[in-house]
Amino acid sequence: MNIVLGITGGIAAYKAPDLVRRLRERGAEVQIVMTASAEEFVTETALQAVSGRPIRSNLWDKEAEAAMSHIELARWADVVLIAPATAEVMARIVSGAAPDLLTTICLATEAPIALAPAMNHVMWNNPATQSNREILEKRGIHILGPGTGSQACGETGAGRMLEPETIAAAVFELGVGKGEGLLEGSTVVVTAGPTREPIDPVRYITNRSSGKMGYAIARAAAAQGANVVLISGPVSISAPPGVEVHPVNTAQEMFDATHQHIANADIFIAAAAVADYRPAAVEKQKIKKKHETSRIDLVRCPDILASVAALPRPPFTVGFAAETEKVEDYARLKLSAKKLNMIIANQVGDDLGFDHDDNAASVLWNNGRKDFPKAAKSDLARDLVELIAEHFHASRGADTEPRLTVISNKD
Ligand code: CTP
Repeated sequence: MNIVLGITGGIAAYKAPDLVRRLRERGAEVQIVMTASAEEFVTETALQAVSGRPIRSNLWDKEAEAAMSHIELARWADVVLIAPATAEVMARIVSGAAPDLLTTICLATEAPIALAPAMNHVMWNNPATQSNREILEKRGIHILGPGTGSQACGETGAGRMLEPETIAAAVFELGVGKGEGLLEGSTVVVTAGPTREPIDPVRYITNRSSGKMGYAIARAAAAQGANVVLISGPVSISAPPGVEVHPVNTAQEMFDATHQHIANADIFIAAAAVADYRPAAVEKQKIKKKHETSRIDLVRCPDILASVAALPRPPFTVGFAAETEKVEDYARLKLSAKKLNMIIANQVGDDLGFDHDDNAASVLWNNGRKDFPKAAKSDLARDLVELIAEHFHASRGADTEPRLTVISNKD
């Protein structure tokens, strides 16, 4: 993939060499285009060393233009990525102004454009920036992030550039959606995140799921050309590009939303950490502390995964089993009890599983198993979706091809 990587003048530009390295590790050719203010934060020498190509920055550089003009550069790109993208460059792209090489390329390219915004949280939340974001998204420009957390200015909020690994994974998924994916024409329904089971107006029962694995699966399935419907519990992750997200809170809402969309699904992947139990009654008023001990009666929540697998014509159904011990034994029990096609088993605890960026997994099916070592959730999700697609197509083949009966004639 040919990537034009635009770097604009924000402190997050210091992460650009790492981003280039991660894009190149995935096989991309990266042509860097810097703005004048980016040069205040990261050196041309470092970027040239990691990208292996001379840096472009000046629209009026006669020599560079003779080698590859800005129009040729705009055509060469399979993706134009701007990371970090300042509020200024967002505003320029919205207005169509093209005073420098990078914004000129943005006007002249027909390739997908992705921006990874990075700025102070007040600048990000400013109505001008938010209205620019909305316009850019309406025009089909992909906005990656930003993340939330502590910022270079010492404050905390939304506006941190996403980590280079996350940006690299997202960009590759944009590039794949060109009609050559393994799941082209299929519909995949994914559940993700935790559920919240209310106790009273201010309290609920939930769990540690961050939704990262389910979102990575949804993103990877979309990258393989699938129409993806993501039924998501409450998480703080932005919607993957091109994925239809339905936010829900409780297990019952997740059950209802899943069954609303399952009729058209070819594949169902249950990555959500659904509550097994919910309070039998939700108090209308806040419960006051009156006694030394207290109890809440719980009742079972509907099992979404088992209910989908039990449909008369179920989609290819994949579950997850997060276990702290006897991982394969418990996962195989779930595979057969819930009548699944596959189950993705993973050990939770230590530094794996819930709320981590890395995960390891074993995928189990009838008489089969494949292990995936610890990797970034985005990479693991890509491999898992490839394996699911392979088994899904094999199961379809088995359904549609005439069965041959071999008659032994030994006697
Ligand atoms: N699942 C579901 N609906 C539920 C509970 C779980 O769809 N009400 C799905 C999860 O998304 C996951 C799989 O079922 O794909 C997990 O199986 P489950 O047996 O429910 O796991 P645990 O809740 O961990 O069960 P246990 O406590 O028995 O290990």
